[in-house]
Amino acid sequence: MNQALRRGALIVFEGCDRAGKTTQCHKLVEVLKREGHRVELMKFPDRSTTIGQMISQYLQKKVELEDHVIHLLFAANRWEAVKKMENLLLNGTTLVVDRYSFSGIAFSAAKPHMDFEWLKQPEVGLLQPDLVLFLELSSDVASKRGEFGQERYEQPQFQRSVRQIFRKLQDKSWQVINADGTPEEVHQDIYEKVKRSIELVSFQQLKKFDK
Ligand code: TYD
Repeated sequence: MNQALRRGALIVFEGCDRAGKTTQCHKLVEVLKREGHRVELMKFPDRSTTIGQMISQYLQKKVELEDHVIHLLFAANRWEAVKKMENLLLNGTTLVVDRYSFSGIAFSAAKPHMDFEWLKQPEVGLLQPDLVLFLELSSDVASKRGEFGQERYEQPQFQRSVRQIFRKLQDKSWQVINADGTPEEVHQDIYEKVKRSIELVSFQQLKKFDK
């Protein structure tokens, strides 16, 4: 088959804070690039856009926003990237994404009085990841990783609720990664799964979240 028809894979990293997502995203991108893959790193929230700046202000507790409003802003921040993502994937670029819709749902659902089904709706139609790498830390290791930061949501009790909701969101595209090991050990595990996924999906159509 024509190499040029190969599409890139949409690889998403999820997990609770301090699991090492960002480190692993960077490492993966670096290794794939070195091997000659076309690959781009993305991160949500993307704080560089106008919507992203509103989100950033909210996370830094500089403004208050009603829970449904901030939920929709996080989703809008993904919608504003959708065309770019689609074009890159169809042109053969693999996207490594630090947080995506699952964070969107899990962090909002951990708040009181949020309807789980309602929370999923703004994600319908967004690109569905080919592979979700969920980095999981044992509570022992998590407690040794130092203090949480100062931003909204960076509190142990809230993070525990988020983790429980993440579990409810797992589907067949998820791989749970034990993030307790050294960065290199964790990377090896991720790398093999990602390589398989890139091969597997290269001639498949892009998928979208449905209702
Ligand atoms: P950020 O510092 O950008 O990411 P990280 O914590 O991974 O370093 O913070 C993003 C925060 O926003 C994080 O607590 C998760 C939360 N979040 C949502 O509530 N909804 C979303 O849709 C996304 C993508 C993140």
